[in-house]
Amino acid sequence: MQTRTLGTSGPQTSALGLGCMGMSALYGDADRTESLATVHAALDAGITLLDTGDFYGMGHNELLINEALRTAPAAREKALISVKFGALRTVEGGFSGYDGRPAAVKNFAAYSLQRLGTDHIDIYRIARVDPDVPIEETVGAIAELVEAGHVRHIGLSEVGAETLRRAAAVAPISDLQIEYSLLSRGIEDAILPTARQLGIGITAYGVLSRGLISGHFGRDRQLAANDFRGMSPRFQGDNLTRNLDLVDALRAIADAKGITVAQTAIAWVLSRGEDIVPLIGARRRDRLTEALGALDTTVDATDLTAIERAIPAGAAAGDRYPASQMTHLDSEN
Ligand SMILES: NC(=O)c1ccc[n+]([C@@H]2O[C@H](COP(=O)([O-])OP(=O)(O)OC[C@H]3O[C@@H](n4cnc5c(N)ncnc54)[C@H](OP(=O)(O)O)[C@@H]3O)[C@@H](O)[C@H]2O)c1
Repeated sequence: MQTRTLGTSGPQTSALGLGCMGMSALYGDADRTESLATVHAALDAGITLLDTGDFYGMGHNELLINEALRTAPAAREKALISVKFGALRTVEGGFSGYDGRPAAVKNFAAYSLQRLGTDHIDIYRIARVDPDVPIEETVGAIAELVEAGHVRHIGLSEVGAETLRRAAAVAPISDLQIEYSLLSRGIEDAILPTARQLGIGITAYGVLSRGLISGHFGRDRQLAANDFRGMSPRFQGDNLTRNLDLVDALRAIADAKGITVAQTAIAWVLSRGEDIVPLIGARRRDRLTEALGALDTTVDATDLTAIERAIPAGAAAGDRYPASQMTHLDSEN
């Protein structure tokens, strides 16, 4: 497994991370046995970075990771657990805001450590900035958890350049977790250069645009009521048609290279720099195997030109989140 180092202060990690969200929430129902087998297969393949959130299935995802790590030899020692916190949930399963107050941060951490069955979280980050709490206070609270040995590294999620600077002035930041793909290139103008200037790595999510540019998303796919993609503008009506037209153009390049569409999309993100680690949302072993194949794929300058001609920057039809959720993105403001 190829490795990367997250920023100048972060840990060494596998070149791909496994995002575990879809094993508990947001993409319809998942198969628990297959989810566990996928985490084990990832660890066997040398993937060390496992990403979760305490709100993914309201604790379900952390308990799943706990079980996966308990049932594989020496797994906890090998794995880096990256946890997001801060999202508030309702009994009905909705989202009701964010809490980044220092006392709340420590409370979230106490519960996560218990659910994960571990004495430390490797990377800890608030999922979205709490608009009522200065980022300095939230990051300061995580820094105290680092000092106490409960957390190893501090990360950020979906923040803009100014917040990156403010947070980095409080404590070393290992990585910014943010959406980055052929369809979501918003970080390129200001956020990525600022992260590089500050020595902060990127853990990129949505590299396959939540499956939209994986090559496996059919035009007539019916989404379950509990699938986030049913509310995502990029998966609606005309937008979906236009986005899948882009995928067809990408498929022509993938076919000519003898690789898959998903591998092409992942390889493109990998080509953006050694400081970027794609988090792959595989929840089945066959999807994981396909994603890992991207590491054996070389895309040269001619391929990159062709890929960017197929999906030019800004080509995506529709926003990456529904309007109500776009307002929570510090990275978009
Ligand atoms: N910080 C944040 O705000 C934030 C937001 C979202 C996610 N994340 C993290 O990032 C991780 C990855 O995000 P994501 O799941 O949206 O990204 P993704 O990798 O773009 O999408 C995963 C989806 O793509 C489909 N897919 C098709 N082929 C695949 C392949 N070969 N490998 C992997 N997936 C394939 C999966 O299909 P199936 O339907 O077949 O399973 C799944 O529905 C999450 O698990 C989570 O840990 C963070």
